[in-house]
Amino acid sequence: MKVCCIGAGYVGGPTMAVIAQKCPHIEVTVVDINQERIAEWNSDHLPVYEPGLDAVVQECRGKNLFFSSDVDKAILESEMIFLAVNTPTKTYGIGAGRAADLRYVENCARQIAKVAQGDKIVVEKSTLPVRTAESIKHILTANSQGRNFQILSNPEFLAEGTAIQDLESPDRVLIGGDPTKEGQVAVDQLVSIYENWVPREKIITTNIWSSELSKLTANAFLAQRISSINAISALCEATGANVDEVAHAIGTDERIGPKFLKASVGFGGSCFKKDILNLAYMCEHFGLKEVADYWNSVIEMNDYQKKRFSANVLSHLFNTVSHKKIALYGFAFKKDTNDTRESAAISIASDLLAESANVTIFDPKVSEEQIRKDLHVSDDNQKVSIAKDPYEAAEEADAILILTEWDMFKTLDFTKIYEMMRKPAFIYDGRNILDIEALRKIGFDAQSIGRT
Ligand code: NAD
Ligand code: UGA
Repeated sequence: MKVCCIGAGYVGGPTMAVIAQKCPHIEVTVVDINQERIAEWNSDHLPVYEPGLDAVVQECRGKNLFFSSDVDKAILESEMIFLAVNTPTKTYGIGAGRAADLRYVENCARQIAKVAQGDKIVVEKSTLPVRTAESIKHILTANSQGRNFQILSNPEFLAEGTAIQDLESPDRVLIGGDPTKEGQVAVDQLVSIYENWVPREKIITTNIWSSELSKLTANAFLAQRISSINAISALCEATGANVDEVAHAIGTDERIGPKFLKASVGFGGSCFKKDILNLAYMCEHFGLKEVADYWNSVIEMNDYQKKRFSANVLSHLFNTVSHKKIALYGFAFKKDTNDTRESAAISIASDLLAESANVTIFDPKVSEEQIRKDLHVSDDNQKVSIAKDPYEAAEEADAILILTEWDMFKTLDFTKIYEMMRKPAFIYDGRNILDIEALRKIGFDAQSIGRT
């Protein structure tokens, strides 16, 4: 069997690499219009940093896993075509800033319609608004010329930083298909791929619309938990309660559960905000304004948390950061990824730059080029510098802000760091990974989220 995936990004690359690893009898080709990205997938320096990914790619690449920019050839040769292209928030026209931009998905559908010569199963892996499958089907059947196209929804639930683990042992795999006989045959074919390593009881099959909506709902619920605990973190700071203790206390209730209750400087990543905006936009479209408002408030709380963090930095530094050196530890939106999309660090750095601070950034995996691109600053901009390690960043700094929870930050020599800084030395743990009391003993003016 031959399958292909259009889109070699954070989802397409890792997802297909794991399918190839678990199904040696299937030939998997991942294609992208971005030739540079494909060249990187074929090199020793993969475009996506994920623990464990290198090993899987090395094991399968050239055997049953291929990366190519020949999209037409992959479409022609594959029985099943996964779509893992980007679905960003629309930046123009009706729904700008809220609706999902579906042009990349539509382009794929049109290309499949043009190129395919036989029957195809098209699998939506990208996160899409409910009923997108209908549009894809419409485009394909309008150009079918006797060919049979089945559309399945198979949303991806992996989280960056743990993608390989999530793909190898997922909580569930969700597959939505048409209730028709042909639709169910297509569902069974995709089920039989996953069955190579996922227990059958973990493979949930539904109708297409439920599958599409479940993906948006899952992300909305996850983001809502973070906004909820972040809202409580502000109250903890006002009252002297400790948000980590509150999270632990409520998380032991089986109905609430302990995961996704870590207070932080705010959630980032390419999907939470975009998917909630999209969900809320859809609600509005269907006349459900109150429902849209409810979900939008999850984003508003996240924006508030980021602004609150920047404002606290300013107030701790005597209400001015002008020309002060502020060291940012971490730029990725979470640990174990090189992805910076919607990272809270971008908002915090931008707020500080607007206050005329000198910002020095250290991240173990994000490139200088990416940081400068995210902050819209050129190489010769003196207000932003990139440090090669956390100690260099701390030299003569007035403040250190922990913005990504990289494990390496937990084992730094903070006594040495303290000595290198200007006094009073301020440290603000935006991820609650450090022992605040121990830092205070060293001499730091130490703050964290929701712990006084
Ligand atoms: P990405 O931007 O990293 O990758 C998308 C790729 O698609 C890009 O390399 C782009 O060049 C390519 N592409 C776009 N149009 C194309 C076309 N017509 N032909 C060939 N290639 C094309 O995006 P991503 O993070 O992998 O996300 C992809 C989808 O998966 C999104 O819908 C996202 O919401 C969803 N998703 C993402 C994650 C995640 O952790 N990043 C997790 C679950 C779901
Ligand atoms: C999230 C979901 O967890 C995945 O299931 C989903 O597939 C994916 O979005 C997607 O659709 O793109 P991801 O964004 O990669 O995955 O990473 P998360 O672990 O969810 O973290 C998102 C953000 O929330 C990060 O900035 C993280 O630091 C923050 N976070 C997470 C917290 O602040 N507190 C927590 O308790 C958990």
